[in-house]
Amino acid sequence: MAYRIRIEPLGREISAPQGTNILDACLRQGIWLPHACTHGTCGTCKAQVLEGEIDYGDASSFALMDFEREDGYALLCQAKPLSDVVVEAEVDVEEGVEFPLVEDYRAMVVHVDPVSPLVRRVTLELDRDTVLLPGQYFQWEVPGHQVKRAYSAAQITGRRLEFHIKYSPQGVASEWVFNSLRPGDQVALSGPYGRFFLRPPDGSPAVFLAGGTGLAPIKAMITALYLQRPDYPATLIFGARTVDELYDDKYFRALSTAHPTFRYLPAVSDETPPDNSHVVSGRVDEVIARTFERLQGHKAYVAGPSPMVDACVAALYQKRLFARDIYREDFFTQE
Ligand code: FES
Repeated sequence: MAYRIRIEPLGREISAPQGTNILDACLRQGIWLPHACTHGTCGTCKAQVLEGEIDYGDASSFALMDFEREDGYALLCQAKPLSDVVVEAEVDVEEGVEFPLVEDYRAMVVHVDPVSPLVRRVTLELDRDTVLLPGQYFQWEVPGHQVKRAYSAAQITGRRLEFHIKYSPQGVASEWVFNSLRPGDQVALSGPYGRFFLRPPDGSPAVFLAGGTGLAPIKAMITALYLQRPDYPATLIFGARTVDELYDDKYFRALSTAHPTFRYLPAVSDETPPDNSHVVSGRVDEVIARTFERLQGHKAYVAGPSPMVDACVAALYQKRLFARDIYREDFFTQE
């Protein structure tokens, strides 16, 4: 059984199998609607349902207030049609950007490597080629649980994708990845999702800010940037609490040696860096404050836990960077 979904004012109509949320149905059929978390928490996909019945799904009451629901609004990443529906939604369009379709993939685990006390690097080989924008993420199905988890792809080499997965106490995905996932296992995933991706480089110097596994999408972007533009001006500030959490340090040091226009500043907030170390002390927002005079004319990409992202955005504003030149990806802990 399938329902018809019409998107206005675009005027396009698609069919969605019963049980599919409206956002997913659209992304799989070439209608690119705004979204970020795809878990009902950020509110980016909010839109008005003009006609028809829906199941509101697991929409957080912060992201969708009661009065909005009464006015006919829904979170499209959660809303499932219970009849044919008409939705009024703004379609995402960006000059020079072609959004890839979301598809389902099967993959084989190639490596599972501990890269820091709380992070595993998992390399998957997909069953076929994929297209994604550097910085986008995939949804993994967690076996034995009716849940999906979002992980950004950190490296893309042919059909091989690298992911960085952080341990979360009581997290069902952490339990699986840290205790039982092995090379040769199969993983079901879908994607790519998300609007946090590298914009076509236009000459504006880039500032990349990462906290924890927020490094994953940032690594994908920086790698893609230097493949396209070997002498592009860019700075990465990667923040962690302690030096042993600063994974992929060798990778970024090698990149800064190979590309003198790339500046790499790893920073730790909860301990003093060793003497003569390249690591600096402080949170990422503090390093921004003392590293840059002004950031007008730059583009910034920020990924990590929400409080870190908020603090960085405030520091970027202080340095006169406009909101339109800041791209952010908030990482939420999921059990
Ligand atoms: Fe739907 Fe975040 S609430 S994308």
